[in-house]
Amino acid sequence: MRTRITELFGIEHPIIQGGMHYVGRAELSSAVSEAGGLGILTALTQRTPADLAKEIARCRTMTTKPFGVNLTFLPSVNPPDYPGYIRAIIDGGVRIVETAGNNPIEYLPVLKEAGIKIIHKCTAVRHALKAEAIGCDAVSVDGFECGGHPGEDDVPGLILLPRAADQLTIPFVASGGMVDGRSLVAALALGADGINMGTRFVATQEAPVHDNVKQAIVRASERDTSLIMRTLRNTERVLRNAGVERVLERERALGDTIKFADIAEDVVGIYPRVMIDGEVEAGAWSCGMVAGLVYDVPSVGTLIDRIMTEAEAIVRKRLSALL
Ligand SMILES: Cc1cc2nc3c(=O)[nH]c(=O)nc-3n(C[C@H](O)[C@H](O)[C@H](O)COP(=O)(O)O)c2cc1C
Repeated sequence: MRTRITELFGIEHPIIQGGMHYVGRAELSSAVSEAGGLGILTALTQRTPADLAKEIARCRTMTTKPFGVNLTFLPSVNPPDYPGYIRAIIDGGVRIVETAGNNPIEYLPVLKEAGIKIIHKCTAVRHALKAEAIGCDAVSVDGFECGGHPGEDDVPGLILLPRAADQLTIPFVASGGMVDGRSLVAALALGADGINMGTRFVATQEAPVHDNVKQAIVRASERDTSLIMRTLRNTERVLRNAGVERVLERERALGDTIKFADIAEDVVGIYPRVMIDGEVEAGAWSCGMVAGLVYDVPSVGTLIDRIMTEAEAIVRKRLSALL
């Protein structure tokens, strides 16, 4: 299947694995790239730029195919060493960067000068248009159902994607709620050039996370996520658990007077405990509504082959039979 995204990134299938804190490491990203998709390492999971350089080198020993690096620009009191991470990306010969969070404009010139292709992840058409205007090569359009940060507009993919298709000139992938061949065909029908998946890739054999996390996703239904931090205008979709209930309770009690410090103990430093130690109830971790459609823990290769085979069957058989 050829789309503007497969052409832009030099990949076989229009399937991207979005950056994921503590999940986007070499094991998963190389497996996605080896299977013909685009794997993406998560820069900020590596404590220092030197650690990221090592992770890029490690990923390169595991695949000869293109892979990318995610740079998430978060609101933060002590910002990470972004110039250092960018240097590691450039020196590591990475050709694709997924930016997310704040507008990446400050770092675009240096990335573009190094010949790097940028795909910016955003949750609103106006932000996608901004990304196009500042020179991003593609965007990943994340609907309200997505795991992680869906923004504050609450527009689901079924509306957001065709709106993006109507407005954008650059290629874009559909993100949020993507899981199988049906979602790939639907995304293409809505005007996207491929899909970006997070939650589905966590529940794969190669994802370097504790099995408890994979099983929690398999067990979860589409009704088992919650939105936290809306009161701070930093909304995150997470799997509901005891820690998340505590956050929601404090948000209800404190309303607009809430400060980040009031919930910090259930949202800061949680990822290593969940992803490495398997303490899935430790606090808040991102998970999409699509967990309700994740029924198994296949290898990445099996998953990607299954998506492509199913998508082809839908187009060739089910849809063409309607004509
Ligand atoms: C466990 C987890 C961690 C994530 N961490 C990040 C991150 O650090 N940076 C980022 O840009 N997106 C992050 N995301 C969002 C994903 O890259 C992707 O956009 C999202 O999961 C798509 O929605 P889906 O989960 O419905 O597939 C994360 C998602 C999950 C599930």
